[in-house]
Amino acid sequence: MKLTIRKTMASLAVAATVLVSGGLQAEEKYPFKNEIEARKHFMQVTRFNLSVLGAMVKGNREYNAELAAAAANNMHALAKMDNSLMWPKGSDNAVDGLKAHTDALPDAWSDFDGYMEKHKAWLDATKNLAASAGKSKDDLRKTLGAVGKSCKGCHDDFKQQK
Ligand code: HEC
Repeated sequence: MKLTIRKTMASLAVAATVLVSGGLQAEEKYPFKNEIEARKHFMQVTRFNLSVLGAMVKGNREYNAELAAAAANNMHALAKMDNSLMWPKGSDNAVDGLKAHTDALPDAWSDFDGYMEKHKAWLDATKNLAASAGKSKDDLRKTLGAVGKSCKGCHDDFKQQK
């Protein structure tokens, strides 16, 4: 009997949480919210892996071949993903109501070839990184810089500068 009550209380608590978070989401609704949030989180994941590798190069974290290879492979896997679903037309920061939510510039769509060129540079740089990061710290250092440049290369043209 006690157990049943406890279980009921627990599921009530879960239901309340779901209701509250559902309510908050409804308030913040804007076009392509899921897509915009997904791509920002995606970028955060690649930044996280980059920061682990950056710390190893700078000596703020001990070089570890296995971890370096894992982070580099993650970065290449992210670059290889088909991300088109997260970048629907009409989800740029010039669209009414989206300025506060996304830094993606309209050029990412209107100059799609230019955007894909930056994407290709990123894909190639992460490929080289994945092939070398696990060999030695020196190999990692030699290929990481180009990856950082490829991030910046795209951000300079297609992400709102703050
Ligand atoms: C082909 C273009 C492109 C490449 C390459 C690229 N980014 Fe981005 N990135 C963007 C765009 C566009 C945005 C803005 C997304 C938005 O706000 O909707 C962004 C946003 C971000 C953000 C902010 C996310 C947030 O929470 O607002 C971070 C961090 C980031 N990128 C890191 C990186 C790193 C690290 C790399 C390289 C390893 C990289 N990006 C490569 C286009 C790119």
